[in-house]
Amino acid sequence: MRQPLIAGNWKMNGTKTSAEALLSGLVAGSVGISKAEIAVCPPFPYLALGERLLIGSSVRLGAQNVCTQDVGAYTGEVSALMLAEFGCHYVICGHSERREYYGETDSIIAEKLLACIKQQLTPILCVGETLQQREQEQTEAVIGTQLGNVIAQIGIDTFQKIEIAYEPVWAIGTGKTATPEQAQSVHYFIRQQLAKHDQIIAEKVRILYGGSMKASNAQDLLSQPDIDGGLVGGASLIVEDFLAICQAGDAVVL
Ligand code: 13P
Repeated sequence: MRQPLIAGNWKMNGTKTSAEALLSGLVAGSVGISKAEIAVCPPFPYLALGERLLIGSSVRLGAQNVCTQDVGAYTGEVSALMLAEFGCHYVICGHSERREYYGETDSIIAEKLLACIKQQLTPILCVGETLQQREQEQTEAVIGTQLGNVIAQIGIDTFQKIEIAYEPVWAIGTGKTATPEQAQSVHYFIRQQLAKHDQIIAEKVRILYGGSMKASNAQDLLSQPDIDGGLVGGASLIVEDFLAICQAGDAVVL
């Protein structure tokens, strides 16, 4: 069985004070959680705080974005080397909000994945369809293309070092969650797409679900055979809610 990973994506939320409280609360609350892996991805300015406060705990640190380039004149960008220096383990790449608001293409996202891997960071590659695409029954076509473009650019072997998150855009921040069956069906599809290239890699890769995951639906989602964790937005901002999802992740491990 793949070890569940529950990762919190804070997005652009919080203050120094709230970040400190959330990180400390997670450290304290994560003590009894041993089977699921936990990660938090705060905004860049709070990474140093995360590095300091998470020391000695099992909670891993992650970032929400990274530059494609290693170093140089790229105003406003942050390199993978910098993220590694601040103790990051994970980096979310190609979140739908970055695709939509900042024009990130599959090709840019593929470069970001490589930039992470070069610094021994583990990227979390996000894929997902919009409501319109789902209604037009294009879900598999859209996700197949998002994945296929990345595989064509960086190769299937790279997926040994990548986590995937299926995040249906229509379920993000809307309170509408994909049903466990809907999510499982897409997760299975994603694994099949990888298996066409390499069955062993396909079996090993973790595929997280993201989109209004909360304490009340986490266990049902995480019990599905191809759902290996969660990428949690809103509910990751409240320590009790996030810990309850982590506990659900712990509980599905036999
Ligand atoms: P919500 O959990 O707020 O729907 O966000 C999901 C998400 O986008 C995580 O990356």
